[in-house]
Amino acid sequence: MLTPTIVILSLKFAVGAVTVLLCLSLIALAMGKVVVHGKINVVFFFLTILALFFFEIVVRLIDPVLFSGLWKNPELAKSLKIHLCFAVPSALLMGVMLFTGLKRLKVLHKGVAIVFLVCWYGTFHTGLFWLPNQIEINNKSVSSGVERNG
Ligand code: HEM
Repeated sequence: MLTPTIVILSLKFAVGAVTVLLCLSLIALAMGKVVVHGKINVVFFFLTILALFFFEIVVRLIDPVLFSGLWKNPELAKSLKIHLCFAVPSALLMGVMLFTGLKRLKVLHKGVAIVFLVCWYGTFHTGLFWLPNQIEINNKSVSSGVERNG
């Protein structure tokens, strides 16, 4: 059965996995292998889009109430809002990065890369460490397995 815990753990795994790809692409770049950097990032782009698509389908189409309870917990709602402040720009900038990379708009690609890396780091950090691993949604309350310090 699809539970919020399974969905959130799958998403955390997906973000971790594509971050490994992004790191590999940067290592390739540092080694001067620009084409390899580009190829890895095309895979990075489509896998991330696939994960987003899957998540949106689950949350909005298959089971809209699955995650709605999260917003009722003030602490979790705050973490989610902060997470989205990084995740939404990351998703948009990812498209800009792919476009500028493929079109070889070097200056723009490098400039946007800095903003993208900051946003991606924020997405990774808040997604993996601020959001809970376990979610139990009752009728009135939502409890999480992880409490965030500060
Ligand atoms: C985040 C840090 C990144 C940095 C610092 C970076 C930097 C670069 C640089 C210096 C080039 C070579 C440009 C040239 O010589 O024409 C390049 C190419 C490219 N980048 Fe990135 N990039 C980053 C992320 C990304 C991302 C996230 C994507 C896609 C989602 C991407 C896609 C590409 C593509 C497709 C190319 C062209 C490869 C080719 O010529 O075959 N890059 N990147």
